[in-house]
Amino acid sequence: MVRQVQQALADLILTIDERPTFRPNAEAALEKFREPLAEDGCGAAKALEALLGWNEVAGANTTGPKCYHFVIGGNTPAALGADLLATALDTITYTWVLSPFGVEMERQALDWLKELLQLPQEWPGIMVTGATMANFVCLAAARQWWGRELGVDVAQTGMSGLPRMPVLSSGFIHASTLKVLALLGVGRGAVERYERDAFGRLDLDAFAKRLDALGDEPALIVLNAGEVNAGEFDPIAQAIELARRHRCWVHVDGAFGLFARLAARTADLVEGVERADSVTVDGHKWLNVPYDSGYAFVRDRTLLTEAFRYSADYLPEGDETRPTLGAIGPESSRRARSFAVWATLKAYGRKGHRQIVEHCLDVAQHFAGVVARTPELELMHTPRLNIVAFRYNPGGMSDVVLDDLNERLGAAVLADGRFLVGTSKWGPRTIFRPAFTNWRTRPSDVEELAEVICELGGVARQAKSR
Ligand SMILES: Cc1ncc(COP(=O)(O)O)c(C=O)c1O
Repeated sequence: MVRQVQQALADLILTIDERPTFRPNAEAALEKFREPLAEDGCGAAKALEALLGWNEVAGANTTGPKCYHFVIGGNTPAALGADLLATALDTITYTWVLSPFGVEMERQALDWLKELLQLPQEWPGIMVTGATMANFVCLAAARQWWGRELGVDVAQTGMSGLPRMPVLSSGFIHASTLKVLALLGVGRGAVERYERDAFGRLDLDAFAKRLDALGDEPALIVLNAGEVNAGEFDPIAQAIELARRHRCWVHVDGAFGLFARLAARTADLVEGVERADSVTVDGHKWLNVPYDSGYAFVRDRTLLTEAFRYSADYLPEGDETRPTLGAIGPESSRRARSFAVWATLKAYGRKGHRQIVEHCLDVAQHFAGVVARTPELELMHTPRLNIVAFRYNPGGMSDVVLDDLNERLGAAVLADGRFLVGTSKWGPRTIFRPAFTNWRTRPSDVEELAEVICELGGVARQAKSR
């Protein structure tokens, strides 16, 4: 079995750059995948062989250099190796009592992340599955703070009888935060968006007026460092400055945008984030560690211990020296996500990770240049980070017709399979929004993307006019 896995890994890793990005026929192939549970198993070797076989016909190469959908990072070799070891060792990071090494590894990896991202060293952090759960941790702490401000221990007595929590943000607020607010009993509907244009940019004047109107009422502010359609930012420093004059909890969702801190040319986009109360960061995006890996950082440890308290006669409560990580975050049983984080930071250091960010910024600028030079393509926003909003526009068509054409083209690009890239909206317009977050992506890859969009765009245009 070991040799089989070793061979399979070698085959996969050595062909990542060439493997098909997406299998257009996956859906049809998977029709034959489902089967009843067998009474007698086929053995480990055959089971793994079957798994690899199915991957060949239906698996997507999301760690490859041509995947720009959503915001998906690659894997550095050190991170991949360490994550495989975390699985093989089955290290459990629930509590010090089970694994001093696993717990200490997580604390060290989180301390390094704070150094890398220039967050205050004294802030406690916790590893979770991704930015959705990191937002959950941060906003659970915020809710606990809000209850305290109103004289209630929400974790103990619940939300019943409390007023609605005001949640102020811009149009950039991520869908995962809405999900989290629903889970926390605050409600998606609590969000007040202060937008100054159709793109969702924060209206600072309206935001300031609302803060004044709140008077002494405590409120939650969600700021967005890196939104998903064009990689834009709320004015973090200015908004925090305003919030600090009021009774507010400031949360910054920096899932991928916080990595702007690593490059001199983008660092100003996240200036002031260290003055927030909580910050979300993702690892499986721009840190290039395997899924799933996200991190929540919260200024006040006591809010985490109150919100996530977890104890019983057989469960150790832990303390600051020998902590129970399962009692300051949502998961009790938890895997060693820290191995990959620790290994990649150990292997490549601050410099290596700065180079990954710089590289992706260069790729985004290169692609924006290609788009600007290509007559059939239109740049819809000057990129400041790693996402390039553009559309196919051969000329002579209205915006409405172009929206329809680009939607159909988006489906055609996915069906083609050479690239994994999605469409979205930038303001009212349909756009492609490739996100460059993988160290493997080369300038030639994005040049090819432009060619493929033009090629398939021509076909989509003909299909409609026929
Ligand atoms: C800004 C932002 N926040 C939250 C999320 C949710 O992240 P995850 O899918 O890792 O839970 C994303 C994902 O793209 C994101 O871009």
